[in-house]
Amino acid sequence: MPNPARPPLEGASAAREICARHGDDPAALIEILHDLQEAEGHVPPDAVPEIALALNLGRAEVHGVLTFYHDFRQAPEGRVELQLCRGESCQAMGAEALIAAVCARRGAALGETSADGVTIKPVYCLGNCALAPAARVDGRLIGRASAERLDAALDAALSEPAR
Ligand code: FES
Repeated sequence: MPNPARPPLEGASAAREICARHGDDPAALIEILHDLQEAEGHVPPDAVPEIALALNLGRAEVHGVLTFYHDFRQAPEGRVELQLCRGESCQAMGAEALIAAVCARRGAALGETSADGVTIKPVYCLGNCALAPAARVDGRLIGRASAERLDAALDAALSEPAR
């Protein structure tokens, strides 16, 4: 039962409402997280304690599910999505060094969004193994990717008007 004396938290009211819609059923945790992400665009950090309270689960349990599944976002999506392949062929062609270089240039880790609005996501094969290492910028496939080529593609995508 939520504590009415506690000040409202960002994302908490949406979490409460969605938990109630699922009858505060702990077995519905994944559905609740999906519904919350659909409603808010991501799962706000302040929703975690609220969900744990409503479902009578530990915060660590909710956080564990949230971080285990790559589909869940804990921050809003950036303007541009960059997918970096970590599949075997790409690994053999230097994907990890490429990922490190791109992340350093953007100032964000895999799974995060950079200050300039690039969400960097790992993927595990883009079907472009012959041209490894492969990447995708807003759906546009890039083979034989280098940090310089990705920088150029990202800067071009960021300069396009918002969709
Ligand atoms: S392993 Fe990277 S595109 Fe297939």
